[in-house]
Amino acid sequence: MIDVTIVVNGDTRRASVPPETTLLKLLRENFSLTGAKLGCDVGDCGACTVIVDGMAVNSCLMLAGQANGRSVTTIEGLATRERLHPIQKAFEDTGALQCGFCGPGAIMATKALFDEHSDPNVKDIRDALSGSLCRCTGYTKMIEAVQEAARVLRSESRTKLTDART
Ligand code: FES
Ligand code: FES
Repeated sequence: MIDVTIVVNGDTRRASVPPETTLLKLLRENFSLTGAKLGCDVGDCGACTVIVDGMAVNSCLMLAGQANGRSVTTIEGLATRERLHPIQKAFEDTGALQCGFCGPGAIMATKALFDEHSDPNVKDIRDALSGSLCRCTGYTKMIEAVQEAARVLRSESRTKLTDART
C-alpha cells in the first residue's frame, strides 16, 4: 500500500491505496467524488477529466501516487451550494448535454481552457473538447455553451474590476 495526500477541491485528503490505484479510482472509491466518470478506462473518452495543478488530465491514466502532493479540482469543486458555476449553467441553458455522461469531463476540459484563455476562439474550443467524446450531441450546442460561459465569465470579471475600483 502507498500513502497519498492530495488537495482536492481545496481540502486536504489522505488515503492508503494499492500502488496500481488510478487517480480516478481514488477520487470515486476513496473520496466518494463520483462526478468524474469511468468510461473507457484507457484515455480515449475524456469522461474522467479532472484538473491537476492547472492541467486537464484523464484521471484514468494517472496513478494516485503520481497525484501525491498535488492539487486536484473535480466537477464537485465548481458549483457552490447557492450557484452553479457559469460553465455548468451555460451547458444547462444551451441544452449542450443529453444523457450527461460526458458532461463532467467536458466541463472540466472547458474550465482548464478558461484558466488559459478568457476569450477562446472556436478552434481553441474544439481543441479543448477534442478529448471529450460524446455519443449524444453533435458538439454544436457544446461549443455554443462554452462561448456563452466565456461571455458570462468575462462580464463577471469586468464587474469585479469595476467594483474594486469604486
Ligand atoms: Fe478516462 Fe475514458 S475513462 S479517458
Ligand atoms: Fe450523452 Fe455526451 S450527452 S455522452
